[in-house]
Amino acid sequence: MQISFSDKRPEDADVLAFIVSKKNFEDYDFPLENGDMLRDTAKLARFTASDGQSFLLILPEGGKMVRVILLGVGDDEDDHQKAGAKALSKVQTCGAKHITFEGPDLTAKQAAEAAYGALLRDWRMDKYRTKLPDNQKPTVAYATVVGAPKEAEELWADYAAVADGVFLTRELVSEPANVIYPESFVDRCQHLADLGVEITVLDVAEMEKLGMGALLGVGQGSVRPSRILAMRWDGTGGKQKRPVALVGKGVTFDTGGISLKPPAGMEDMKWDMGGAGAVAGAMKALAGRKAKAHIVGVCGLVENMPDGNAQRPGDVVTSMSGQTVEVINTDAEGRLVLSDAMHWTQETFDPEYMVDLATLTGAIIISLGHEHAGVFANDDDLADKLLAAGKSSGDPVWRFPLTKAYDKLINSPIADMKNVGPRGAGSITAAQFLQRFVKKGVKWAHIDIAGMAWADKSGPVWAKGATGYGVRLLDRLVRDNFES
Ligand code: BES
Ligand code: MN
Ligand code: ZN
Repeated sequence: MQISFSDKRPEDADVLAFIVSKKNFEDYDFPLENGDMLRDTAKLARFTASDGQSFLLILPEGGKMVRVILLGVGDDEDDHQKAGAKALSKVQTCGAKHITFEGPDLTAKQAAEAAYGALLRDWRMDKYRTKLPDNQKPTVAYATVVGAPKEAEELWADYAAVADGVFLTRELVSEPANVIYPESFVDRCQHLADLGVEITVLDVAEMEKLGMGALLGVGQGSVRPSRILAMRWDGTGGKQKRPVALVGKGVTFDTGGISLKPPAGMEDMKWDMGGAGAVAGAMKALAGRKAKAHIVGVCGLVENMPDGNAQRPGDVVTSMSGQTVEVINTDAEGRLVLSDAMHWTQETFDPEYMVDLATLTGAIIISLGHEHAGVFANDDDLADKLLAAGKSSGDPVWRFPLTKAYDKLINSPIADMKNVGPRGAGSITAAQFLQRFVKKGVKWAHIDIAGMAWADKSGPVWAKGATGYGVRLLDRLVRDNFES
């Protein structure tokens, strides 16, 4: 969908959306031939312009029939974004081509937010539907915000860059595992080089040399060779020496390995690379808007398959850090992948901050459902920064504890640790495992996004399927805290 900002309503507009609030709805002089009738009809249908409300009517305007949508907004920061998304979701496949947004006294920010919401909500993946009936195909190709202050267009460039990052994540997450595997994941990210991102890829031989036994153990049952993908963006011109590191779990398919998962729902495990997808999308967003920060994004990419060469429960692997792990359950593979990816990240880039994202545990879905990701941190200030970014970005997080008592639960009789704890506190023991690979002095947070990467029903700014969770959170974290 193409976004524009204009002083006057385009001739071909066939959906006219008006953003109104309780404060201005009664007195707004709708720039329409039938404005008063519209307001009366809406009131008859109990539309009061309250936050989140909407009303659609087909009316004659300019010699043709057009759809008119009223969108109620309140005082919340994201109300205009949600309104834009709501309007788009109502008309996406209705046959109309061009939606406009207007309203009394729209600020530049509100105008950009409305367009942003519409753009985010518009994304869907139809490439594998060859028989989609015409009347189910998206038709709205243009969105124009009318009458907003000039600055809206300047603000828009950053919004568009972040949306591009979200779309990359959704694409990577949506693609099936026969299409996206470690090597093809890397290929799909190569275009970030055009934005000035420096890309480094480690293959299996290089990882063997580095001693990444934990990551490689997970991948050894797959015919798809494992990879590490590193993306570095320095928008400080070398001034900020120690970067912020983002590390993502990229299990391109998780069968569970020899600790095989049950068949029902296993197809979901194509999106077990959601953390890596979010890191790639965040790098695209940050480089796309030329963020004045030094950021590295690292993805640990493997496929977890059962096979004659797969690792067995009880195997002991040696991680790059030198620490040994008894693999009790080959389905607790994400932490094994991250342990080496995180250690390598710290050795290679010396980050001051490190944030990892992973679809790590089913237990986090039991705790938080699909409303928050779980955050775990060794630093209260970083946790607070994430909580704040979560609130303002629309990608919310909720904090969990880390303590010595939880840490003890993963001690092993034969190795330095085992890769699973007891039944209780599964998300916390997973985070404790990761913490054992965080170097002294590094401020670290882990975000368990298992409940957020994929949605079985549509949300405020996404259709059902891949949400793109994490990109807006990380962009906001960097924007509010790490830009000079
Ligand atoms: N990828 C899964 C976690 C997951 C589950 C993500 C459901 C999204 C939806 C992870 O690798 C896994 O299998 N975790 C196990 C850990 C257990 C063996 C300790 C789990 O959560 O059951
Ligand atoms: Mn697993
Ligand atoms: Zn997994």
